[in-house]
Parts: sequence; C-alpha cells; structure tokens
Amino acid sequence: MTKPIHSLAANYYTDPQIFKIEQDGLLAKTWQFGCHTSELAEVGSYATFKIAGESLFAIRGRDNQIRVFYNVCQHRAHQLVSGTGKSSVVVCPYHAWTYELTGELRSGPNIKSVEGFDKSSICLTEVKCEAFLGFLFVNLDPNAKPMEDWFPKARSELEEWVPNWAELKPLEWVEIPENCNWKVSVENYSECYHCSLNHPTFANGVVKPETYDIQPQGMCLRHTTECQSLESMTYDIQSGMQHHDEYSSWFLWPMFSFQVYPGNVLNTYHWRALDADHVVVWRGWYSVNGEESEIVRQLAIQDRETTVEEDIHLVESVQRGLSSRGYKPGPLVLDPNCGVNSEHPVMHLQKWMKEAIDG
Ligand code: FES
Ligand SMILES: [Fe+2]
Repeated sequence: MTKPIHSLAANYYTDPQIFKIEQDGLLAKTWQFGCHTSELAEVGSYATFKIAGESLFAIRGRDNQIRVFYNVCQHRAHQLVSGTGKSSVVVCPYHAWTYELTGELRSGPNIKSVEGFDKSSICLTEVKCEAFLGFLFVNLDPNAKPMEDWFPKARSELEEWVPNWAELKPLEWVEIPENCNWKVSVENYSECYHCSLNHPTFANGVVKPETYDIQPQGMCLRHTTECQSLESMTYDIQSGMQHHDEYSSWFLWPMFSFQVYPGNVLNTYHWRALDADHVVVWRGWYSVNGEESEIVRQLAIQDRETTVEEDIHLVESVQRGLSSRGYKPGPLVLDPNCGVNSEHPVMHLQKWMKEAIDG
C-alpha cells in the first residue's frame, strides 16, 4: 500500500536560514512582479521597486521599450532614482554622471580628463523583464526562460478572460500584512478545502464550490469554477463579454496571481515576503482607465471584509502552530478525482518549495 504524502516539515516555514536561502535563490530566479506599466506611460517615466532585496527601476526608452536596471550608479555605487517620476536622462545625485534611457553612460563631469576612459564600456546593469497584460515582471536570472515557458497559455487565456486588459489601470491597492511565512499564505490561497467552512460569502455568493478545481499548468496553478446561480450572486455580472459567468485564476509561481471574478473583473494577489514569519499581500483592483467603478470598489470591500479577513486568521493560526513542539506534519488529503476537497495543488506547491530550498 502506498503511504500518504505528508505536508512539509515545519522548519521550512519558520527557520530564518531557510528564508535566506529562498531570498538568494528562489526570489532571484523566478518571475516577480515589478510595477504596472501604466506607471511608465511616457518616454522617461520610471518606477522603482525591490525584488530579492535588490533595488531596481523600470524606465521607458525613446524607442518606447521598457527596460529594467539595478538601481545603482556604475561610478561609486550611489542609488540613482527613488519612487516614481519622469526624466529625459538618468542623473546620479552623487557626482552627476548621466545615463541614457538605454543605460549607456552619456556624460560625467570631467571624465574627459581621464586618459583611457572608455565611456562606451560603462552601462547600467540590465535585468530581464516582460510586460504581461500591462503588468511588468522581472527576473534577476539572466538565463531565465520566457514567461510563456514557465506559464504556458496563461497569457492567451487571460487575454480571452479580460479582453479589455489594455484599458485597465489600478483603481485600488489593498495592503494586507500577515504574521506568517509567505508559503503558508500561498498554500492557503491554493486550496479550497477550507472554503466551505471558512468563506461563506465566497462559497455561496461568488463561486460554485462543487465545480471548483485547481490544476497545474507548467509553473502556474490554474483555478477554475463556475459562478453561483445568478440570483445568489452578490453583484451584477453582465459584462457583455464571454466567460462572464465563470471564475478563474492563474497563480504564477511563486508570488503572484491573476484572478478574474465573474463579470470579467480582474484583480490580483501579490505577495511580498518580508522575513521568515511576515508577508504582505497586495490585493490589486482595476477599472477602465482607473476610473471610479462602484462594482469594483464594492467587490474590493466585500473581499477585504470577508475572504481576506477570514484568511488572515487562518494563516496566522497556522504559523503559530508550526512553531509548536506538538505539531507533526499531517497527511495531505489527495483525492484521485481532485476537486474542491482535495489538496493536490498544495502537493505541487510543496514540491516546488522543497526543490527551491533543497536543490
Ligand atoms: S556614484 Fe554616481 S556619479 Fe558618482
Ligand atoms: Fe481562503
């Protein structure tokens, strides 16, 4: 008889050393969300963000291409830019070395006096990036495969589910600090075994749990379900677009998820791991041109007050439990037929998590 597969050992979620391994390895070798491209609308507009402990910035060039660089001057390492803004060239605040939007060194005070100074050999260090439905993702690994290889079909499916994606801009960002390891939060997101007991609004007013399933699609975990019968829905979903009566989400390993609520309402989850037992979850909500939308605002409030609030208590309790001497990792409930009451997506996640740490 085969033995059940057990959940990961508790130290994977509590040990600061393991978090350090993840920070240097996993976070620096996977596709991570940087910023929304609406922040980079014009030539020279830039936005800074942090990934795997590194400060980076994205900037739109004169050729309209977005590039991402490490936020560090190639002279004596001063930080180049902060926050968001717009600039025709990048000027270092320390000694005014000036870089083109392509990262090449353009000029610097008195550099011509240096014999053998080869200006053309100096360039900001560029990082791989991809715009994915208006979301800019970066990967610090210069040899990273394209997102399509990591997450096959996710882009084309999302384009189908959110046909107006090019017009969408952020309307609301909700920041949710959780006292738990990022993996506890991501695992909780990736199974609906806990939904009927803990998320009555979501289970009764948004999705139809008996049709819920999560399946791997490359390094994406794809959630699919039908929505509730129309009279039980908590809002009007008649968007006039196909798939308006479905709920779907694309979790892109390791820390981002696109969700499409019934009515083709795009929203996102973005985890930022702070240390071994703290993570911040950003819930992003979008509307056409970022204009006011009652439905989206209401959904954001409903979600914050129900599903998100309910999950905070679950994940924080789990984190406390993982430090208990009385905890021995239990068997995962893996139903061969999958479905809502099976933890097979957690099994996939824990395999990826373990590989990222143990190599
Ligand atoms: S460190 Fe940037 S110009 Fe000197
Ligand atoms: Fe949940």
